[in-house]
Amino acid sequence: MYFVGVDLGTSAVKTLLMDENGTIAKVCGREYPLYIYDNGWSEQSPEDWFTYTTEALRELTDGIDPGDIASVSFSGQMHGLVMLDENDNVIRRAILWNDQRTAKQCEYLNEVVGRKALMDNTGNVALTGFTAPKILWVKENEPENFARIRKIMLPKDYLAYSLSGVFATDYSDSSGMLLLDVANKKWSDFMLNICGIKADQLAALYPSYAPVGTITKRASELTGLGTHVKVVIGGGDQAVGAVGSGTVVNNMCSVSLGTSGVVFVAMDDFKADYGPGALHSFCSATGSYHMMGVTLAAAGSNKWWVEDILNNTDYVGEQSKIDELGRNRVFFLPYLNGERTPRNDPDALGTFVGMRMSSERKDMTQAVMEGVSFSLRDTLEIVRGLDTHVNTVRIYGGGAKSPLWCQMTADIFNARVEKINSSEGAAFGAAILAAVGSGAFANVKDACAKLIKATDVYEPNTDAVENYNKRYAVYTKLYHDLKDTFKMINRL
Ligand code: XUL
Repeated sequence: MYFVGVDLGTSAVKTLLMDENGTIAKVCGREYPLYIYDNGWSEQSPEDWFTYTTEALRELTDGIDPGDIASVSFSGQMHGLVMLDENDNVIRRAILWNDQRTAKQCEYLNEVVGRKALMDNTGNVALTGFTAPKILWVKENEPENFARIRKIMLPKDYLAYSLSGVFATDYSDSSGMLLLDVANKKWSDFMLNICGIKADQLAALYPSYAPVGTITKRASELTGLGTHVKVVIGGGDQAVGAVGSGTVVNNMCSVSLGTSGVVFVAMDDFKADYGPGALHSFCSATGSYHMMGVTLAAAGSNKWWVEDILNNTDYVGEQSKIDELGRNRVFFLPYLNGERTPRNDPDALGTFVGMRMSSERKDMTQAVMEGVSFSLRDTLEIVRGLDTHVNTVRIYGGGAKSPLWCQMTADIFNARVEKINSSEGAAFGAAILAAVGSGAFANVKDACAKLIKATDVYEPNTDAVENYNKRYAVYTKLYHDLKDTFKMINRL
């Protein structure tokens, strides 16, 4: 029997076919346009998501006996605002997780409504990427669109809706809307009032492993998935990526080095961070909770540096010149999209500091990778400050293909870093959720224990740890020194 995982990412969709032993039989993907504007806006067309996903699924199911596929589930880029009108037409392009247009709405939410009230009602403070500030933005700037809203949904829920006709979401992804009372797993009336929306404009809430419907006839014709195939709702990409890396046990930590980078800590019980760094407290895809912090441009910074600036695609060649960890005196702040945790600062900018005539291209390449790992350490420091003991970290995502980056992360985190037997991350996690939702495993933890094993291990090197500790102190100081300058630059 096969299970399908769909990972709806920011640059592409990945679909994956897994059997009940966790063996990946086939992976098919498609890229789609991303509209990034100079003013920090970031949008995508939900219709593109559907078109390219159905194409990828059609290729995935080609040559497979339709009766052998039991279920499909999803991992989705989080926080995106998708709005449908009374005829189920998309009202405007989706406003994405990395869009920075809502600084004013966030200031209102955090300062006027107040951070404490938001924390008490949702477990989180307002961040520019979250969905509720986007709803307020549409209300203020596009009132004609706001008036037409009948359904508000997240990116992967738009796919599930288009494939099954069922308007559903899950606790993990909806946690990032700032509309969910995360601790109690229900929509927050307090936030709905603030945003001027009604509960019937929002989807029904389910655990990530819940089957919510089956494939419609039309979707079956487009995708090759039979109408018997169960649609399991899935979750936000970080929660599902955690499933795909087996980060499902209390206090286990994972790092994803994707376009964005995330430090994720699984927790049995709800915990909230009332501190100024404000980690996200979200529901997880296992049925419990997690805390996480996000670096907006992680492997995205590396891609920008290697591909856009150096005009190269040979990442391995570029990194092969780096010979020593912990000695670099060039620093990079990876704030190319502003920054989320712990800065919560849409004005923050990408910055190189510390070059001399003797500095080389490899020092700058190294600084970019180190800057990303330092920014992820910012989150880890908050987690450790919340009395959570983390000494092993599972690493996955595009950046984790680099053994050098894995070792660097072990040294910068002073933690053992493990890679696992699958490198498919969230798409693999989605297939596991599909398998759990169709009854192939008793629960998510059980499935992970059976399917996921640690393979490569990177132990921290004592010398490098010490040298990186000194450099981390410089790294954190740089942001504070430059914070006001970033604002001035943005106002030019
Ligand atoms: C999580 C987040 C990103 C996006 C895109 O809070 O913003 O992980 O989901 O990957």
